[in-house]
Amino acid sequence: MVRNMEPDFENRIIATEYSAQDEPTELSLRPRAFAEYIGQSKVKDNLAVYIQAAKERGESLDHVLLYGPPGLGKTTLAGIIANEMGVHFRVTSGPAIEKQGDLAALLTNLGEGDVLFIDEIHRLQRSVEEILYPAMEDGALDIIIGKGPSARSIRLDLPHFTLVGATTRAGQLSAPLRDRFGVILRLELYSPKDLARIVTRSAGILDIAVTPEGAMELASRSRGTPRIANRLLRRARDFAQVLNSEQGNAAATCEITRESANNALTRLEIDHMGLDNIDRMLLRSMVDSFNGGPVGLETIAAAIGEEAVTIEDVYEPYLMQLGFLQRTPRGRCVSPAGYRHLGLTPPGQQTFDNV
Ligand code: ADE
Repeated sequence: MVRNMEPDFENRIIATEYSAQDEPTELSLRPRAFAEYIGQSKVKDNLAVYIQAAKERGESLDHVLLYGPPGLGKTTLAGIIANEMGVHFRVTSGPAIEKQGDLAALLTNLGEGDVLFIDEIHRLQRSVEEILYPAMEDGALDIIIGKGPSARSIRLDLPHFTLVGATTRAGQLSAPLRDRFGVILRLELYSPKDLARIVTRSAGILDIAVTPEGAMELASRSRGTPRIANRLLRRARDFAQVLNSEQGNAAATCEITRESANNALTRLEIDHMGLDNIDRMLLRSMVDSFNGGPVGLETIAAAIGEEAVTIEDVYEPYLMQLGFLQRTPRGRCVSPAGYRHLGLTPPGQQTFDNV
């Protein structure tokens, strides 16, 4: 039998991007009001104040920039903002807006006070971004009609609107765009406790039985990310259900316990800290090929065949939160804790038993 030893980046169970399988359930699990939204309390509390204040003044909410690692609920929060403001929610993304005209069409179709959500706003083209500046600042659209000496500019008034932009890193945004957001909020990775509450809530909606210990087991291995926690919940249900039916029981009696969650996660090669084989490969290749660092991001990217931005946005935040990886001015380093997690002795800490 030929076994494919290449890491499977596409079907990575702990990928933070949406996958087609997630779509239908993701939507049903999305909280629609602050009251249902678990975690991110600082962001939530501040936003609730800004929303209440804007509503009391009868104004639209100031433009909001949400940034943080993928899968933490930026789109969900934007939807909640629209809901709480009682306005329509229009969704698009930086790469989807190809021409100035695309954005002009979106803006002119907004209703009074509506929320326009632009995901991956750092990927907007510069020419499109330039249309956005007067729209955000003056509620106006400047359109050039004609070419050459006969070209003239006309200004169209837009309805008041709130732009909610989302990006993985605020630093990726151009300064003029960033400066036009009145509210800039950073989403943090979730604590295992909050993730366990999210797993329990999702299990309730999906009619999955899960014990508190089972929820905690999934939560503590979901790298701080609700999207991963919800995906692991569905996979753990599959494993629990098949095991249950192999034992001759009805599917309805299956329950996710600590043991069955652990069994599923082991089968998915997710270790007790939530690292999958790609995280381990990243650390391992830094140790084996670069003596644990310092090594440049591009060099690591080439070594493991992954894009530098993906390493930076998807893998590193969690490895850094665990203290397994450090970013230094000279490059990335595997920490002593990272070595120990791989079952290796950190450099400088060898014991010389045979000396
Ligand atoms: N599902 C995904 N993210 C969530 C959150 N922050 N709160 C509740 N349910 C969620």
